[in-house]
Order: sequence, then structure tokens, then C-alpha cells
Amino acid sequence: MAFQPEPWRVKVVEPIQLANREEREDRLVAAGYNLFEVAADAIFIDLLTDSGTSAMSDNQWAGMMLGDESYAGGRNFYNFEQTVQEVFGLPFVVPVHQGRVAENLLFSTLLKPGDVVPNNSHFDTTRANVEMNGGQALDLVIAAAHNPSEQHPFKGNIDLDRVRQLFETRRDDVPLAMITLTNNSGGGQPVSLANIRAYSELCREFEVPLYVDACRFAENAWFIRQREEGQGERTVAEIVREIFSLVDGATMSAKKDGLANMGGFFASRNRPLVEEIKQRLVLIEGFPTYGGLAGRDLEAVSRGLREVLSHEYLRFRVSQVAELGERLTDHGVPIIQPTGGHAVYVDARSFLPDIPQSQYPAQALTVALYRFGGVRGVEIGSVMFGRTDPETGDAIYAPLELVRLAIPRRVYTNSHLRYVADVLVEIGEKRDQLRGLKIVEEAPVLRHFTCRFEEI
Ligand code: F0G
Repeated sequence: MAFQPEPWRVKVVEPIQLANREEREDRLVAAGYNLFEVAADAIFIDLLTDSGTSAMSDNQWAGMMLGDESYAGGRNFYNFEQTVQEVFGLPFVVPVHQGRVAENLLFSTLLKPGDVVPNNSHFDTTRANVEMNGGQALDLVIAAAHNPSEQHPFKGNIDLDRVRQLFETRRDDVPLAMITLTNNSGGGQPVSLANIRAYSELCREFEVPLYVDACRFAENAWFIRQREEGQGERTVAEIVREIFSLVDGATMSAKKDGLANMGGFFASRNRPLVEEIKQRLVLIEGFPTYGGLAGRDLEAVSRGLREVLSHEYLRFRVSQVAELGERLTDHGVPIIQPTGGHAVYVDARSFLPDIPQSQYPAQALTVALYRFGGVRGVEIGSVMFGRTDPETGDAIYAPLELVRLAIPRRVYTNSHLRYVADVLVEIGEKRDQLRGLKIVEEAPVLRHFTCRFEEI
């Protein structure tokens, strides 16, 4: 059976409404054509991120009522610790309120200025946390990842030849190695078990600890089960246990595959390291048995980490994303192929060839999505990654101009996504009406969150 219906029924509804065209125009002007500046109430379908936007299950909500808000030793911590031990096989864990805190704790403890951290691709907060500690964040994803139309089952794999080269020339500058599952910055593409295994062996050979950025670990394991030879008969739970048996630890944002609205953790086999991290945790986040979270939130994360391993859930999840991608492809909307686990990435440069890169075609597409249909996506292109060369004053552009349509977990039905596809098809038909943008105000760092534009 090809068609996958939602493996849940709806118990609570949250009304959404499409503001009329005039109001949408007003909102765009008031926001300076930056969708981060539009209030969520004025959005009809919000595909800005899959992070913290999941719908929790009745089981998670029931767990919230069992929250133990004791300062130290609350019961939800022990359930959380046991869950992480059982799901990942990692013995020592501290909770944090979201993934970037785990990154901050890890890198501020292990890095010194001049160090290098290899990864398939660093997510932007991971990169920023490496750089804040004087390190260099090196992206070593395989070459296929740079070609949007190339079909490859594991486009998130890391290039092991380049890792070896790094270890052979600069081993002493590499305090740890990372791998991101799935590779968000590279289109949500999975990493194969064989690649993780070989990377792990290489790290062992050079005695470099290996850590996973585990945000979307279950989606990655599902792709391994579907696509990798010899894995189709195993459970996702078994594949997850094997992945984490090959590494030293993980940073995790439970806002993704934790199916929770807030939460995360740092976990490791290295007890002295975790003890050192706990000292810092108390300063910046909280006592080690709550780490910036309410007891009830820890309970929601624990239950979410088990639920996310369900094959029915993952089959629907990945097929829902794939179906949106197929619908777009069938109607001539170019996307990164194949679709990844959590989002569809529209290739705005080939979709809108008349808008030059200097006029931010992907940003223009986010404006059109809102203008035509009240849909919010996020620009991942030259607004986010572009900058001005400090020496020549020339603009430096991003390699790809993408709009990410991230699909929140268990939130939208297939008919919502059919609507999103229809909006994109309409934009395609009216593409000669679209206008480029120029930046009129920008902050010196992370400008994409707040910069303002005018239409050209
Ligand atoms: N690592 C990856 C791969 C991520 O995608 C994110 C967040 C983080 C780390 C940081 O986790 O937000 O809990 O602090 N990604 C979100 C996104 C924000 O929209 O892709 P966090």
C-alpha cells in the first residue's frame, strides 16, 4: 500500500486562519519582508521549523501531570536517565533546556583556541559554539551533497578520506569529532550505518572521541532501515542502539526527535567529562537533575524518546515529507533530491531564474509564499550565509539559494501540505510578477533573524 494515512487521530484542535490578502500585504510591509518578524497568529501554515513545534501525544500530556518539581532528585529525572540509557546505551546524561546548551557545555569544556572539529555539516548553533571557543568548524560532507539534483541514498555521509587527511596532518588540534544525524544544513539527508562505523573506526585509530549531534536520530535510523543493505529486518530501536554503541556520546535537542516542545541533553560514556560538565551546568543552566527544565518537561521528553521509535510513526513521517516533495517535483518545482527526513528544500535559483542572486531569490520566494498563501518557510541562502568581503567590499553569496519547508511532527495533515504545494504551483505560474529584494537594515551577526528589506 503506497498511500500512508496519519497513524493518529485528532483529539484536540487548534484553529488556524488565513488572513486576507490585504492584511498579509500589511504584515509583510510592517515586517520589512522578513518572515521572522511576522506574528505567528497571522500565519496559516507555519513551516519555519520542525524544532519545538511537535504535537505531543495523549501519553506525553498524561506524563506532564506526573511532573515532580523537586529541586533535586525529582522522579522524572530518573525516568529520563533510564530512558537515555535504554534508547541510546549511553550511561551518563545531563538534561539541558535545548540542544545548543549541550553544544556550549561540550565545546567550552574540550576546545582550546586553534582546535578543529570535523563534522559532515555543522548546524549554525554548533558552528557558532565551536567558533566562540576559538575553534574551527570543518564541514567534510561527501561531494554528492553539493549537487541538489543528484540522487544518493546517504547524502549526509562524511568524506572519510578528508577526515583521515585531517587526522594525519593535525591530530593534536582535534579534541573531538562530530557527526550530525540527519544532516540538517545539507538538506536533512541521512548518514549510513556503514559510514558511521567506518568513521568510528577511524576515530578509534587516532584516539579521537566521536560525538553525535543526535537531533533527528530516529529519522536517520529509519532511512538506514529502508535504504541500507541488510538493515531492513531490524527494528529502529536496534539500529539506534548500534549507532550509539559506535560513539562516545551525544548532544541532543529533544525539540526534534524528542517529540517535545522544549528539552535536550548531553550524554557520554566519559564519566570524568560529564562530572566536569555538571559543574558548568550548575552555573549556566541548573542543577543536574533538571538542567533548565521543569520536571514535567523531562517526563514529556522521556516519553517522546520512546514514541519516536515507532515504525508506524516514522513510516508516516518520512512518507509525508517525501509526498510533498513528489508533488512539487511533478509540478516542475525544483527541490533538493532526494527529500530528507524533516523538510523539503526548494531550489529558488532555478525556480526563479529571473531574480539574480544579488536580489535574494530565496527570500523573495518566502515573501511570495506568505503573500499568495499565508505559508511561512525559511530562507537558507545568501541572507543567512552571505556576507561582505571585508577587504574588497564585494558581496559573497551562499552556494545554494534554498527555501526550507520544515514539517512539524504530527501537526499538519496531508491536506495541509497539498495546499502548500498548490501555493507553490501558483507562484510558479505567476513568477514573472515576483520582485527581488534589497537589504535596508541589518545586524552585524545572524542578520537573517532581524534584517529588513525593500522590494525592488
Ligand atoms: N543541531 C541541529 C542539527 C539542529 O538542527 C539544531 C536546531 C540544533 C543542533 C540546535 O538545537 O535549537 O534545541 O538549540 N535546529 C532548529 C532548526 C533550530 O530550525 O533547524 P536547539
